Amino acid sequence: MSERSGTPADDPFSGRQPTSHERRSGQPWDASYHDGPAPWDIGQPQPAIVHLASEGGFAGAVLDAGCGTGENALHVASLGLQVLGVDVAETALAIAREKAEVRGIDAEFVAADAFQLGRLGRMFETVMDCGLFHTFDGDERRDYVASLASVTERGATVYVLCFSDVGPGTGGPHPVNREELRAAFNRGNGWDVRAIEPDRIRTRFDADGAPAWLATIKRI
Ligand SMILES: C[S@@+](CC[C@H](N)C(=O)[O-])C[C@H]1O[C@@H](n2cnc3c(N)ncnc32)[C@H](O)[C@@H]1O
Repeated sequence: MSERSGTPADDPFSGRQPTSHERRSGQPWDASYHDGPAPWDIGQPQPAIVHLASEGGFAGAVLDAGCGTGENALHVASLGLQVLGVDVAETALAIAREKAEVRGIDAEFVAADAFQLGRLGRMFETVMDCGLFHTFDGDERRDYVASLASVTERGATVYVLCFSDVGPGTGGPHPVNREELRAAFNRGNGWDVRAIEPDRIRTRFDADGAPAWLATIKRI
């Protein structure tokens, strides 16, 4: 297990180890939110999440892991569910909290590391991940999936919406193939991948969206 804490609390990463994405980009995630909306920050929920919610895909306490400025979490919360959004980017969280207040939606947004979800001291029946899993490399995926297991019980559902490696217009920064999803979430570590379906992730530069997978994963 890699060590993800122990760096001084006054560093730009607030005491956590920079992720592979941050090491590659040379800046903390928070910087993505400093100069206007980030490419993924489309100002509305992802259609895949709206569709899932309309089909009753969310139940119980809901966690949005890597919630950004909160559009997906706010959509699910607006339907009456209890939603917690977590992110390492304080700027994004501040924007999410402001949206919740302005829109009068009861949703909670707190700073937390997706690798240390157990520190929340809370359990969730549904987890959504829109664009977080695909930013992690292999070791990080292993640690992240273990962290998800620490806040879910048997029967919980995790949805992962990630860039896919299939179809015209692929080329998102982190394309994921089906096998990688099945390797990360497997029966040996307490998960059953029920479906991996083609979907889209909208970005600010592509209203039609880029090819994505929507994985539905059950905790067993
Ligand atoms: C591609 S963005 C997607 C944001 C949001 N889900 C959306 O759809 O707009 C990935 C988000 O994950 C957050 N993130 C990255 N690593 C994280 C970690 N270790 N723990 C919590 N959040 C993280 C980033 O700060 C960023 O807001």
